[in-house]
Amino acid sequence: MKNLTKNIAELTRKDFPIISKNDSGIKRLIYLDHAATSQKPKIVIDTINKYYSSQNANVHRGAHQLSSVATKAFEKARQSTADYINCKSFKEIIFTRNATEAINLVAYSWGNYELKKDDEILISLMEHHSNIVPWQLIAKQKGCKLNYINITKNGELDLADFKKKLNNNTRIVSLVHVSNTLGCCNPIEEITNLAHKKGSLVLLDACQSLAHKPLDIDKLGVDFLAGSSHKLCGPTGIGFLWAREEILQKIPPFLGGGEMIDEVYENHSTWADLPHKFEAGTPAIGEAIGMGAALNYLKSIGLEEIHTYEQEITQYLFYKLKEINGLEILGPSPKMQPERGPLATFFVEGIHSNDIAELLDNSDICIRSGHHCCQPLHRFYGLTSTGRASLSFITTKEEIDFLSDELKSIISFIKRNS
Ligand code: ALA
Repeated sequence: MKNLTKNIAELTRKDFPIISKNDSGIKRLIYLDHAATSQKPKIVIDTINKYYSSQNANVHRGAHQLSSVATKAFEKARQSTADYINCKSFKEIIFTRNATEAINLVAYSWGNYELKKDDEILISLMEHHSNIVPWQLIAKQKGCKLNYINITKNGELDLADFKKKLNNNTRIVSLVHVSNTLGCCNPIEEITNLAHKKGSLVLLDACQSLAHKPLDIDKLGVDFLAGSSHKLCGPTGIGFLWAREEILQKIPPFLGGGEMIDEVYENHSTWADLPHKFEAGTPAIGEAIGMGAALNYLKSIGLEEIHTYEQEITQYLFYKLKEINGLEILGPSPKMQPERGPLATFFVEGIHSNDIAELLDNSDICIRSGHHCCQPLHRFYGLTSTGRASLSFITTKEEIDFLSDELKSIISFIKRNS
């Protein structure tokens, strides 16, 4: 598929059964909610089906052939995950339920081991609740200070404020790569350089960037990275944490149980080798294998190609939405920040975003409305709710035209009748 960037959407829509032959009863599905969850290509659905039809067994346990088939497929998925982010060792990939669990693992295992009273944790006002609440919990437990980096008036991370708040007590900076609400892409390499000079580690929440551009952990220089399969064309129920091996060796396990032990005695236990030390209980085997297939699918299209196409349609989305009277968009425009994510979060004074989303749904257009799990950010803007259209490489300009036409008529209809 590489080198055929003419129109990735045209080439790939047929890969998605929900788009190409939707039988949900919805007349024409205009799915613009990819940031909430991505749609799944047939190869992922088929891979999961194949696992349950012909490979299903528990992994790393049985002496039988089927268990060995399942284990091979499961560990191959781990290698695909490692390759996707240019990680050299499969030992550094821990399968989790989702990115939320990955961040909780770091906050709990690393935090319990490393943090002490008066240490500081630095996050930002644009974080998803999954990158706020785990830090609140561990900060309270350990008597640490939780600091927030401000947002500029353009809806970007305030780097000057970051430099002011980063200090010798900062032990971890935990930041989103691409904001699920503002769409801005944070300058992680620069942040990591500065944080490391102060002796702080960096965790990257890459949920909204992993499906949209190539990511290289060596280049980014971070210490932890959290990702979620369902935003990467893979199934729900599986995500991963990447962390440096030396950190994972040092910190205690997250959950205890089967699979993560070496020896269990009556009053103590020893731990399995990495990555299993952090994977208690039977893992989400079919889901992990599905995620591996999803990552290979994205790579077969080409992350650079996806990024280029999505930059073009994001510009188009902004151009169309900006034409709409009374509609305001949060975050930097693609002109200001070409690296931004493929989404636009908006509000219209006097009209609740839920009303807009419901009326769009009458025309079979799916967008998200609400606080997008970013209440502190919404509070910063004095808003309780916004609408968000989020795109992917299967989004067409025609879909964006349809969204903008429908938005125009909904807004003028509500304004005329209120
Ligand atoms: N965090 C997901 C979103 O932004 C669910 O919609």
